[in-house]
Amino acid sequence: MADYIYTMEIRLTPDQSKGVNLVQDVARAAGITLYLTGGAIRDIISGFTIRDLDFTVQGNPLKLQKDFERAGAQLAGHDDETRTLFLVLPGNVRAEIGMAHTEHYEKVGKAPTIAPASIQEDLRRRDFTVNAMALSLNEGSRGLLLDPFNGVADIEAKLLRILHNYSFVEDPSRLIRATRFAARFHWPMEERTQQRYDAAKENKYIDHIARSAVGHEIAQLAHEDDPLNVIRALEKEDFLKVLHPHWSAAKVDTNGLALLMKTRQQMVDLGYTVDPSAAVMHFLTARLSDKDISDLRRQIPRKDLIESWRDIEEHAKDLAKRLTGKEAATPSRTWNLLSSARPEMVLFLAVTSRHQSVALKIKNYLTKWRQVQQRLPLPEMTELLITPQLPEYPKIARDVFMLLLDGRLRSRTETLKFLKPFAPPPPPPPPPPRRGRGAKAAAGAAPAAVAGKKPEAVKGKGKGAAAPVSAVPPAAAKAPATKADAKTVAKPDVKAAAKQEPKTKAAKVAHKPAKPASKPSAKRPAKKAQPKKSKARKR
Ligand code: CTP
Repeated sequence: MADYIYTMEIRLTPDQSKGVNLVQDVARAAGITLYLTGGAIRDIISGFTIRDLDFTVQGNPLKLQKDFERAGAQLAGHDDETRTLFLVLPGNVRAEIGMAHTEHYEKVGKAPTIAPASIQEDLRRRDFTVNAMALSLNEGSRGLLLDPFNGVADIEAKLLRILHNYSFVEDPSRLIRATRFAARFHWPMEERTQQRYDAAKENKYIDHIARSAVGHEIAQLAHEDDPLNVIRALEKEDFLKVLHPHWSAAKVDTNGLALLMKTRQQMVDLGYTVDPSAAVMHFLTARLSDKDISDLRRQIPRKDLIESWRDIEEHAKDLAKRLTGKEAATPSRTWNLLSSARPEMVLFLAVTSRHQSVALKIKNYLTKWRQVQQRLPLPEMTELLITPQLPEYPKIARDVFMLLLDGRLRSRTETLKFLKPFAPPPPPPPPPPRRGRGAKAAAGAAPAAVAGKKPEAVKGKGKGAAAPVSAVPPAAAKAPATKADAKTVAKPDVKAAAKQEPKTKAAKVAHKPAKPASKPSAKRPAKKAQPKKSKARKR
């Protein structure tokens, strides 16, 4: 039997996994039955990107709003009719928590009557077999997959299949959804589904689409990996104008969109979690009038998307302004500024900035400056015992990176001079060998410890080998050095070191403590104990 919990765990991003746990904890505390449903299950099983988390509870999730907020979720909207909460979970994870319900359609074009139901009944009101599965997240049945329509088999066959003949009639938005999924997954519709789709199109059932469904489908476009492909497919089927009468593929800024997706991939490859949805909407509607754009926004149920789309240009302008000012006067300052900016803004500005110096700074931030990390002398740092085991390692590595960025450490020698004072004292020597009778036995029992021998870590291949500074950006770089950080870092004994080092210009630079970072405290690294020569012995 397939282990769906295992599959889920390896397929979700770490933030999504935490999101599942968060929702699970809240539901458990409230004693409410919880399932992961819909597209999330489809994507987990099929291997496609898991874009959001759809949960279904047997009960009313609206009552849990405060509990979710207390647990760290943000409310992005709600639907009173279907009793759905739209949440943003920590790490920018989109989630929907809906009530298990039935939908009873009395007349074409009329909204269905909604009634609370069991999960089994809920699965029966869904659009396609591949979306009609639920994974139990409840104690006692955790990991059990409910798949009443054999959605797993349709995923394997790569087919879109409706659950019953009236699917498109009851909810015409499924015509748009079928087109969207077919374009995204390149899965055809199963034969009977295709026939029903064609008939529904011919009979113009789409004219009866619910307003709320239009808003939902507009928002879904923002999260497509290849939105232009979907827009074109919708236009071909005459459904794009259903979302807005003035919308067409010609209104899309195709070059901007292509560059956005390329830059986004570049950022993902660098380890950023970046949500491009607002920027995608910006480019998809680039040539629509302001009025058309506000019409589109008004229909979207998630206020997080509306706000981020509305404010994207303004926020990008602010960042651009800061990038041309004192705050970004040096590469290290620019690095810090861009590291603390939201990745979404960096992405948008990277694609839209017409200001040459801004564009160049972002380009350097995403490419050239990353290579500077490779100039960290890792083997020598390991020799000096400056390894990730040191609590102050991230700060030291970061300071060196900043100095290298600004060209204040020009050579390996200068870098090493800077690093040396940070080297911790060597480990204490092993106890002296026993003398007398017990010595032989002890020597046989334990391998002789050689005084002054380097520990494993020093050899550079063991656990203690210095980590590459790739550990710094983007993760560590996002947290700018604080005063508290600085306190933990021992200041190198600059004066003492200066006495010993040749007084070249380069040496002076190397011995200056890292300026752009916060000031290290006056603590000195412990010096190696040097026994004083006794006068008595001299005599
Ligand atoms: N659903 C449905 N009919 C609709 C809309 C939604 O049956 N008109 C159900 C489907 O089971 C769907 C789930 O609600 O999987 C969640 O809807 P939504 O988030 O819109 O779609 P996803 O399937 O998650 O697709 P996407 O990957 O585009 O988010």
